[in-house]
Amino acid sequence: MEIDIGGFDYSNHAHLRDANNLLDNIIDDNGYNYDTVMDIGCGSGRVTSLIDCRLRCEQILAIDIDMKAIKFAEKNYPSPRIRYQISDISLPWDKLDPLIRKYENQVDLIISNRVLHWIEDKNYVIQNIFRLLKPGGMCYANITTLLDLFSDLTQDEREKFSELIIIPSETDQKEQFKNLFEKNQFKLHWIESLHLQQLYPKDEFRSNVLPYFPNLTKKYLIEKDPIKRNMIMASGLSDYVKNAFLRLYSREIIEANGIPDKYELTYGQIKIIAQK
Ligand SMILES: C[S@@+](CC[C@H](N)C(=O)[O-])C[C@H]1O[C@@H](n2cnc3c(N)ncnc32)[C@H](O)[C@@H]1O
Repeated sequence: MEIDIGGFDYSNHAHLRDANNLLDNIIDDNGYNYDTVMDIGCGSGRVTSLIDCRLRCEQILAIDIDMKAIKFAEKNYPSPRIRYQISDISLPWDKLDPLIRKYENQVDLIISNRVLHWIEDKNYVIQNIFRLLKPGGMCYANITTLLDLFSDLTQDEREKFSELIIIPSETDQKEQFKNLFEKNQFKLHWIESLHLQQLYPKDEFRSNVLPYFPNLTKKYLIEKDPIKRNMIMASGLSDYVKNAFLRLYSREIIEANGIPDKYELTYGQIKIIAQK
């Protein structure tokens, strides 16, 4: 599903808040000055521009797999210090863009805000981040987690879904990330699992945000064949997922004039701070 990058840029204030939170940690831990910084999954460039404002970096390499996002970022958030680059970070090292590989062992700081949950096989990503960092270099990441979409069902109903899809508990999702980083030689400084809230204009939530949720959920299907996956989602699971998000994790906000105007979404997030 294609992202409307202009729309995303306009309404991504919660992404900015979460990125600011990572930047607070970065500044508290290591101060302001960095040679080479990478922003992995830079999207519209707004967060990259925030990094550029809040830190003193010699250069920032901002990469994203989405060409439209990179074009948008180049146009809307240019800086003499930022280089935007189309690139897929989930490839094995020798298939990575040579421009990225040039930075092997040279990056002081890698930031990735709300990206890694989109990538199904994260092993290469973590290996690549490790290879890119200097010895002692730091990685700060926010990763969206999926909350339990079956919590209000009866045991029987839950069992019916468990033949199709298994969403690990939040504790297990955290444990999986901890293991992934440690397996790839990182020293873990911090890992926490949070619940956060994000406000969306009502219409935008229903038309632009809800349709992403089935996509987020698809990777937890037991079936791995992409065509069969799409068929399973289309045969009712997509609708179930959207309704479950509405029922369990969304709240209509009524303005003082009594008009329902916004939705507040609760989402899960893991924050990881790790060192090479
Ligand atoms: C939710 S956006 C977050 C953008 C930005 N970090 C922010 O906080 O505003 C996730 C971004 O990750 C990018 N992305 C997903 N998979 C990727 C991959 N394999 N390599 C690089 N970027 C990827 C998407 O194209 C998208 O722009």
